[in-house]
Amino acid sequence: MRIISTERSQVLAARISEKMGVPLAETKFTRFPDGEIYLRCDGLDDETLIVSSITDNDILVQTLLAIDAADQSRNTLVIPYLGYARQDRRFVPGEPVSARAVARALSSGIERVFVVEIHDPCVLDYFDVPADNITIAPAIGGYIGDLRLENPLILAPDEGAIEFASDVAAIGGWDCDFLQKTRLSGEEVRIAPKAIDAAGREVVIVDDIISTGGTLTTAACMLRERGAASIHAACAHGVFASGAYTRLRAAGISSIVSSDTYENASSFISAANAIKTAITKYVHH
Ligand code: R5P
Repeated sequence: MRIISTERSQVLAARISEKMGVPLAETKFTRFPDGEIYLRCDGLDDETLIVSSITDNDILVQTLLAIDAADQSRNTLVIPYLGYARQDRRFVPGEPVSARAVARALSSGIERVFVVEIHDPCVLDYFDVPADNITIAPAIGGYIGDLRLENPLILAPDEGAIEFASDVAAIGGWDCDFLQKTRLSGEEVRIAPKAIDAAGREVVIVDDIISTGGTLTTAACMLRERGAASIHAACAHGVFASGAYTRLRAAGISSIVSSDTYENASSFISAANAIKTAITKYVHH
């Protein structure tokens, strides 16, 4: 068995490789003169684990090419971060269900797919092959424990994130609550004031993804008004679109942590262990 990673999942793929004792296939990525993407994987075997976070359109193409390069083997696809997952339904007529389009495209040439902290489990049904979600709530809870906060309050910024936040809170036996969010635009949200007693509390906002940071900024503002002692943020996928990380720090969020499902300098939490545990019973090496 070999592990192939696309360009934005190299660190996580190496960690999975170490944990599983499965070698990485050396992969070279270049472009043709017209900009088309080219890759070549060396040393492929009869079973392949493809690790690829769909962080952007180029990586989507790299993933399709990697699956095709491994067409002589049994393939399992791990998608630590699935871009396009949040357009998971048709909100207005004429729109695509982008999550479905991407899931279908990625279903060809593989036997099984795993995603990490999928935004909505309905997306799993869009794949044409068996698809499972992997949670990293224990890893995030472990990290929060290491922060040694005083009786932290774990908060989900909306009802959609409450299950994830509760699972994280359960790791340390911490209090957990959620806010009520309405999305006004791609970058703007309204968070209804809620009777949360945050006064003097060390609050950790837990979400599946930080993208523009609009959700967190609004939540942090509300919590400050309610006298929170400190505000921290932890998420699975730290996208930090358009300089969001800087804006969040400027907005007074004391610490921001994400995982290596979306590799960047705040990825202090690794999904490698959870991925290894989830896939071990399905791979055959
Ligand atoms: C939404 O339901 C998600 O759980 C996140 O809260 C949201 O996608 C974060 O996006 P942003 O950082 O752009 O507010």
